[in-house]
Amino acid sequence: MEKILVKPNGPLKGSVRISGAKNAALPILAASILGTEEIVLEDVPELKDVEIITEVLRGLGLKIKKDKNTLTIDPKGLNSYETDYELMSKMRASFLVMGPLLARLSKAYNSLPGGCNIGSRPIDLHLKGFSALGAKITMTHGEIKAEAEKLIGNRIYLDFPSVGATENIMMAAVLAEGETTLENCAMEPEIVDLANFLNKMGARVMGAGTSTIKIKGVEKLTGCNHQIIPDRIEAGTFMVASAITQGDIEIDNVITSHLKSVIAKLEECGVEIKTNGSKIRVIGRENLKPIAIKTLPHPGFPTDLQAQFMSLLTQVEGQSSIIETVFENRFMHADELIKMGASIKVIDREALITGKSKLYGSKVRATDLRAGAALILAALVSEGETEISDIYHIDRGYEKIEEKFRKLGAKIERIEKEN
Ligand code: UD1
Repeated sequence: MEKILVKPNGPLKGSVRISGAKNAALPILAASILGTEEIVLEDVPELKDVEIITEVLRGLGLKIKKDKNTLTIDPKGLNSYETDYELMSKMRASFLVMGPLLARLSKAYNSLPGGCNIGSRPIDLHLKGFSALGAKITMTHGEIKAEAEKLIGNRIYLDFPSVGATENIMMAAVLAEGETTLENCAMEPEIVDLANFLNKMGARVMGAGTSTIKIKGVEKLTGCNHQIIPDRIEAGTFMVASAITQGDIEIDNVITSHLKSVIAKLEECGVEIKTNGSKIRVIGRENLKPIAIKTLPHPGFPTDLQAQFMSLLTQVEGQSSIIETVFENRFMHADELIKMGASIKVIDREALITGKSKLYGSKVRATDLRAGAALILAALVSEGETEISDIYHIDRGYEKIEEKFRKLGAKIERIEKEN
């Protein structure tokens, strides 16, 4: 089994380039099912999750060529509406092919999606949207079938601004007859990137990035060239890396407006941040101040950076708090940080972190993708060696993570070890 070993090595320094966003690449890849001509995607991160969705698409008949971070997709061969069970169970985001399949082939057969173990992750909102567009949904033994003779635009209100549901319904609606209005939808930057991609192929999506999206159905989509937006969560992770090691890092290829809540919270803590075009310089300081964080849908503080901030807050004098409102079970990293010496109390959806704790290198487990990143961050300032297992979670979402950290001066390596 592969593991990551980290030893402390002082403040991180230098510059790091952020990769394309995983959470933009996945829905955009799913949306390529909607195309009828060549699609070229640039800055696609080389990640396990991207490999999985690429395999799902190949299984449906699409031809995909990969040259480093550029994927060339020929969607003309689309010939199946049924996704592979094994692949679906590996990653929740594979469910994003459902909307595009329903739009293109009037049918989509899927198994219930898998993914990170961070609480129950229903798909009721996705299905509610498909039904509102006229699809008949049947569920038997973990298999979901959506069928529609014709999709017809409708007004759809989401009970919660789910990212995946907004994307899936938007993709189903682009070829529907008439107009669809999606209300209380998610406003994440990745939704805007997906809408831009769809519009380049001829779709008519308006209002992405606000809580109301309007989609005027068109007959067909073509192809296009598109560059994936930078990964704001990877950027946020390196910002915390600089803060926790009292380093000085320049982070390149970022869209600073996507990071407003993250910048605000780091500044509130006392970290110095300088923005300059597509670059952010983060200068860590001694004697940071405790803060209160509440995760929320965008533009609120992202749940995907909650774990990394928890690591940072173990190094801040006084009591900080984190309330997780997006997922019901996303504090599993707290136990691993406690093993390393942190003082954290979790009561329901709130974690109280009392610092500053001396952390010690330990054997810990990446319980999910962002938890894994949080453990690397804690390990950077722990005495002795930290051994992180279950790192396949980390590989789902961080491109060349050891290489990037090593370039900044960290002592980090990947090893093959029995137990
Ligand atoms: C996406 C991101 C993930 C991020 C999350 C929240 C991708 C590939 N993944 O996941 O990294 O952590 O947004 O920012 O983009 N919910 C329902 N019913 C549904 C759908 C969702 O109740 O039909 C609930 C979920 O259980 C969860 C909450 O809504 O509690 C947020 O989920 P959602 O926004 O859908 O997250 P994902 O799209 O799965």
